[in-house]
Amino acid sequence: MKRVGVLVSGQGSNLRRLIETVRAGDIREAEIALVAADRPCAALEIATSAGIAVFSEPAKSIGMEAWQQRCLSALHEARVECLVLAGFMRILDAAFIQRFEGRILNVHPSLLPAFPGRDAIGQAVRHGVRVSGVTVHLVDETLDGGPIVLQEAVPVHPDDDAERLGARLHMVEHRILPEALRLLCADRIRIEGRRTTII
Ligand code: GRF
Repeated sequence: MKRVGVLVSGQGSNLRRLIETVRAGDIREAEIALVAADRPCAALEIATSAGIAVFSEPAKSIGMEAWQQRCLSALHEARVECLVLAGFMRILDAAFIQRFEGRILNVHPSLLPAFPGRDAIGQAVRHGVRVSGVTVHLVDETLDGGPIVLQEAVPVHPDDDAERLGARLHMVEHRILPEALRLLCADRIRIEGRRTTII
């Protein structure tokens, strides 16, 4: 059983799905031990009402460096072994990432390496791509650049705006992020350079 920490900043729909999936017994190897947020957000309320411990100090008041130090202590106290960034809107320092090297997943609403960074969905719509999608990847020190674990394509329709495309991307996120967490917690992701293999 792996103790999982989830870092959030926003609506928390991915967090909600992770909680439901773990509680339904569909990720038998995982237990969500702590949810950490860098700001007040709906995701924190989801965690609290699910009875999950939270770290909720706003980064704005203490600065990102102190936030990361305190968050690391909270993760350590909660004996967290793996992390999921589920809509976490900050960049983590190399030192933070190294503490969990190879054990941090991020979900991103594009087919990386296309459209990294903020507003990936708007970037894709404005660019006029015919196909976008969702990527779950391991986090390294680059922005949305770590080894890819799962990817799924989603067609972009001619009348799509960011909201309509975003709704379809979210449905895919809700399926493949729990799947990637299941693989990570079962030690089924082998990393070789930029490539991962599911074993
Ligand atoms: C998702 O689109 C995810 O890909 C991106 O942030 C969004 C978070 O959504 N990194 P939610 O807070 O899980 O609803």
